[in-house]
Amino acid sequence: MNHKIGILTGGGDCAGLNSAIKWVTKTALDTNLTAGKGLNVEVVGIRDGWKGLTEVDPNDPASLEKWVQPLDELIVRTWDRYGGTNLGTSRTNPFNPKNDQSQKCADNIKALGLTSIVAIGGEDTLSVAHKLHNMGQKVVGIPKTIDRDLNATDYTLGYDTALNVITEEVDRLRTTAGSHNRLFVVEVMGRHAGWLALEGGQAAGAHIILIPEHDFDVDKVASLLQRRRSFGVRYDIVVVSEGAKAKGREEVYISDKADGFGHKVLGGIGNSLAKELEKITGFETRHVVLSHIQRGGSPSARDRLMGRYFGIAAVDLILEEDFGRMVAYRNGEISSVPLKQAIEKLYVVDVNKYYDVERLNGIRSSLAPKSGA
Ligand code: F6P
Repeated sequence: MNHKIGILTGGGDCAGLNSAIKWVTKTALDTNLTAGKGLNVEVVGIRDGWKGLTEVDPNDPASLEKWVQPLDELIVRTWDRYGGTNLGTSRTNPFNPKNDQSQKCADNIKALGLTSIVAIGGEDTLSVAHKLHNMGQKVVGIPKTIDRDLNATDYTLGYDTALNVITEEVDRLRTTAGSHNRLFVVEVMGRHAGWLALEGGQAAGAHIILIPEHDFDVDKVASLLQRRRSFGVRYDIVVVSEGAKAKGREEVYISDKADGFGHKVLGGIGNSLAKELEKITGFETRHVVLSHIQRGGSPSARDRLMGRYFGIAAVDLILEEDFGRMVAYRNGEISSVPLKQAIEKLYVVDVNKYYDVERLNGIRSSLAPKSGA
């Protein structure tokens, strides 16, 4: 049986993508060596996510060279140790109502002879995968996003590396903050989910953590900080998620420009909050935006491993012809879920379970509430 698998990465890049590409490729090509299966598997990378599949002209050799990269064991051998995505990425939405390219995308899949597609992405990329599957395409998904906001999986590629970046950067700030007696406001990514701020902030030992799921009161933040200083501490770290907002106010965006999926880029809350806190408390304050640094660097051990496990599982789904699914990590095991379930809602922080609204930080009790209590 002939298989030609196309792999693509869409949306924001992150660490762990190259590991997943490597392990899809290796696992798929390994099946050619498995005696008795009669398989003939080929793997190609599609450049720049869904953009590659819509822009490619399958009859033009130059266009094919630009958008389609044949992959083999030798090419991907070292990829797992590098961050970003060697296939490139984009935020192209073939189903953008302003310019619907979905049929062209489906026609190109056929013309390229692709028998299946592995789409590695977050909510947006996988929503396209789901729609293409509904059009009859054979698609499987691999979850990635530093925001860890995909439903139905306990892990998304890139999250662990981003958490490590936050921890390391806050550690660096801690020494300068202490030396200068300053308050630092550190803005982290995560869009509408507070996981990166909450878990990054806890790992880094932040004093206050502000998340999109709980609108904060600026005066309360200020008085918690003043109380800390009254104990004699010399500095403070506030971690604020880019999507967090003060009570009665709107989220802060860098600009009003939206991408093909209708998302505007968040950013700026760290700066405005720092100014406001300095005014109220009188503490000398600086702000730092960790921004895309959280998506960069070499992948943590966990992201390399999860890329490997997800990549292998994606090929399992293809060989079992179990399409329209996303590989997932649930309850400590690799499994898979329908793409529909992965994208039907955002996975955000359950404030009642994980966030202390009095201390504006992680909860202090890890015991699950007694049933019926
Ligand atoms: O979804 C991943 C993410 O890094 C978000 O945390 C952030 O809001 C967004 O992407 C930034 O997008 P861009 O790379 O387009 O600036």
